[in-house]
Amino acid sequence: METIEKILNKLSPTDPPAAMPIWSRIARERQAAKKQQSEQEATHPQSSTIEEPQYRCSKCRDLEFVPAGDGAFTFCECRKQRMLERRIKSSHIDPAFTGATFENHKLLPHNTKMLAMARKYVAEFQTILKEPNNSLGFLAKMGESSIKEIRDPVQRAAVKAQHNSYGLGKTHLLSAVALTLLHSGVQVLLVNDADIVAELRQGQFAEDNEHFEKLIGSIERVEVLIWDDLGKAKTTEWVLNQYYRIINYRYRMGLPTCFTSNEDMDTLAEKIGDATASRLFAMCRGRLLRCEGPDYRLA
Ligand SMILES: Nc1ncnc2c1ncn2[C@@H]1O[C@H](COP(=O)(O)OP(=O)(O)OP(=O)(O)O)[C@@H](O)[C@H]1O
Ligand SMILES: [Mg+2]
Ligand SMILES: [Zn+2]
Repeated sequence: METIEKILNKLSPTDPPAAMPIWSRIARERQAAKKQQSEQEATHPQSSTIEEPQYRCSKCRDLEFVPAGDGAFTFCECRKQRMLERRIKSSHIDPAFTGATFENHKLLPHNTKMLAMARKYVAEFQTILKEPNNSLGFLAKMGESSIKEIRDPVQRAAVKAQHNSYGLGKTHLLSAVALTLLHSGVQVLLVNDADIVAELRQGQFAEDNEHFEKLIGSIERVEVLIWDDLGKAKTTEWVLNQYYRIINYRYRMGLPTCFTSNEDMDTLAEKIGDATASRLFAMCRGRLLRCEGPDYRLA
């Protein structure tokens, strides 16, 4: 699996064309094809048909540029789709959710508000973006930490069933938000709490500080950050300081920071720190939805 760091290295807001000038790429491509042809002729002198490499786009042979006459080149029609694919890959959306849409999210009594809020968020994103509270958060009505504290197992099971926050479709809906925004050209990064904590912890002990700063910087500056399962992973004081650093930066810069969590407002604040939670909740003001309902995975 690719690390977040590797993916972030590929992340760029404008997704510029390959650094190599197009004419050099074409010359290299032709050279490679010629070489392949002569190699094939050498190994199979009888063979009259040379196998064509498989291209996704036969028009541009996957170069994403086509000749426009007089030695000039223009973008191929496949380029838009390819750029979108690259943006989706860079967004780090879990492959299990790259097909998540609002349409394939069944409307159920417990998710009416969630679905409406997520849809409205993307529909009005360009306006919302200009507001200081431009984020969206789906969290539990009763946090898993609170439920775990109930000593009596019978009572704990009853409370858990009554206030379930798992399998409600939080990740599905925020992935649909991410994909819709990506389609409209917005740069999105979706991080999972467990993965990000693992990366941050490595960073703490890394000798190459520059690398780590790059990683943090990319999370801080991405146009839209979606933090899935916030408060899930076991953290340390040092990791919590990095959380604060990221959220505080995004708060000051007014950068949308959406999240999902199985904690409630109180338990999440305990998990990520009051100062971080305060900023995050402020960013989500008006769009902080406390959710509970039946687990779709068990339906
Ligand atoms: N209303 C729905 N319609 C269709 N599929 C759904 C719906 N709700 C959830 N699912 C599917 O059920 C699975 C669990 O949903 P998801 O992972 O989004 O829940 P979650 O609230 O993020 O859960 P957790 O808190 O455990 O992370 C996913 O495969 C998701 O696509
Ligand atoms: Mg989830
Ligand atoms: Zn093409």
